[in-house]
Amino acid sequence: MSKVKHHYDQVADIYDGRYDGERGRQYHTHICDHLMTRIPKGAQLLDLGCGTGLFTHRYIQAGGRAVGLDISRGMLSKARDRCRQGEYIAGTAEVLPFRDSCFDVVSSMLAFSYIRNPGALLAEAWRVLRPGGHIAICTLGRNLLTTAVPVVYHVWERLGVRQVGVGTFDEHYYTERELAGLLRDAGFCSIHSKYCSFAHHSLPDPLFALVKKVEPFVEKSAPYLAYNICASGIKPEEETAGES
Ligand SMILES: C[S@@+](CC[C@H](N)C(=O)[O-])C[C@H]1O[C@@H](n2cnc3c(N)ncnc32)[C@H](O)[C@@H]1O
Repeated sequence: MSKVKHHYDQVADIYDGRYDGERGRQYHTHICDHLMTRIPKGAQLLDLGCGTGLFTHRYIQAGGRAVGLDISRGMLSKARDRCRQGEYIAGTAEVLPFRDSCFDVVSSMLAFSYIRNPGALLAEAWRVLRPGGHIAICTLGRNLLTTAVPVVYHVWERLGVRQVGVGTFDEHYYTERELAGLLRDAGFCSIHSKYCSFAHHSLPDPLFALVKKVEPFVEKSAPYLAYNICASGIKPEEETAGES
C-alpha cells in the first residue's frame, strides 16, 4: 500500500492532466455518468479512493454532500483545491474512521483494483452505510485489452516513465461476475453490474472520436471489449447477509 500511496503523492500534480483534459474528461465523465445512474442524488456520500476529487465534486454539484477518503495526501490536497464543499480525510479504504450507519452512499471510482483486501473494504462500506444505503464501484475490468496493462506499466516503470498509474502495484482487475460476487458475499442485495467505456483516453485523436461513436454498441453488444465495470448494490433494510 505504501508504494501506491507514494506513487499518487508523486503524480498528484499531473493527475488531472490525464482525466480532466480534453479526452480524459470525456472518458472520466462517461464512467461517472454510469455510476451516477446507480445511486441516489442529494444524499450523504463517502467516496473511497477519491483522488483529486473528480467524482466527489460531481456528486456535490448534483446537490449532495460528500466525504472523500484517500491514502495519498497529495491527491487530497488537489481535491480540496477543486471543491471546498467536500470534506477530505486521509486513510485506507480497508479500515474506515467513521461510526456505523452514517452514510447513504459509498462510491469508489478507479481505485478498487489497488485494494489488497476487497472483503475488508466491502465489510467497512457495509458497516458505515445506513440500512437501505447504496454502494457503487467502478473499476478496470479484466479482459483481453486490459490483461496487458500491468506488463506494459512494469516495463515503463523500469524505463523511468513518470505517468499516472505506471508502476507495479499488484493490482487486481475483476470480471463482472467476480465483482458482483464480492458484493453479494458482503451481504449487498439488488446487485447490478455492467461493463462500460470503450473510448479510452489514451487513444490518439481521430481514433478516439471514431471509437466514441461505437462505444454504445460495444457496451450493449460486445461488453467484453469495454474497459471498466460498474457494480452496485444496496444494504438491505433488514440485515439479510448473503441474500441478493
Ligand atoms: C486512479 S486514482 C482514482 C482517483 C479518483 N477516484 C478518480 O476517479 O479520479 C486511484 C486512487 O486510489 C487511491 N487509493 C489506492 N489505494 C487506496 C486505499 N487502500 N485506500 C484509499 N485510497 C486508495 C490512490 O491514492 C488514488 O488517489
